[in-house]
Amino acid sequence: MRGLELRSAYTWSKGDLEWVRQIKNTDFVQKFSEGNNLRSEEQQQEWYKRITESNNEKWFIIYDSSSVIGACCLDVNWVFRNAEFTIYLRENEVGKGFGSLALKELLSYGFNQVNLHKIWGKVFDYNKGAIALYEKLGFVKEADLKDHVFKDGKYRSVYIYSKFKE
Ligand SMILES: CC(C)(COP(=O)(O)OP(=O)(O)OC[C@H]1O[C@@H](n2cnc3c(N)ncnc32)[C@H](O)[C@@H]1OP(=O)(O)O)[C@@H](O)C(=O)NCCC(=O)NCCS
Repeated sequence: MRGLELRSAYTWSKGDLEWVRQIKNTDFVQKFSEGNNLRSEEQQQEWYKRITESNNEKWFIIYDSSSVIGACCLDVNWVFRNAEFTIYLRENEVGKGFGSLALKELLSYGFNQVNLHKIWGKVFDYNKGAIALYEKLGFVKEADLKDHVFKDGKYRSVYIYSKFKE
C-alpha cells in the first residue's frame, strides 16, 4: 500500500485541477454521478473559483506518493452541523483500499476538526462498490428514495447513507 494524503483545494496546482476534471469526466465516475455534464477547462476554472470562495464546500484531492488518484468533499451545513460527502477515484485505482483510506481521513476531518454531528451521502442503488465501502465504514442506510433521479433514460433509486459522530 502506498501512502495517501488529502490535499485541500487551496493548495492545488493547475495540474491538480486538471486531473480532477479528467477523473470527474470519465465514464466510470459519470455513471455514478447525478449529473451527466462533462466539464470543460473553463467550467473547471469557474468551479474552482466557486469552491475556494465557498465557506461550505471543503474539497480535497486524494494524492498518493506520485499522483492525483481522486477527489472528495464535505459540503457543510454549519447550522445543523452535518455535511454531505462526495468521493470519486480514477478507475484504475479502484479496489485497492484507497477509497477506505480516503473516506476514513475525510470522516476524521469532518468529525474531529469541523466538529460535525452527522456525515451523509447519496448513492445509486446499483453502485455496489460505494455501498460496500460505506457499510464497511459503519454508515447506515437511512433512506431509499424510489425512482428519484432520471439518468441514462431510466428512473433510478437513490439511497442515503449516514454516519454519526461517535
Ligand atoms: C466508491 C469508490 C470510491 C470505492 O473506492 P475503492 O478504493 O474501490 O474502495 P475500497 O478498495 O476501499 O473497497 C471498500 C470495500 O468495498 C468492496 N468493494 C469495492 N468494490 C466493490 C464492488 N464493485 N462490489 C462489491 N464490493 C466492492 C471492497 O472489497 C472493500 O471491502 P473489503 O475491504 O472488505 O474487501 C470507487 O469505486 C469510486 O470512485 N467509484 C466511482 C465514483 C463513485 O461511485 N462515488 C461514490 C458516489 S458519490
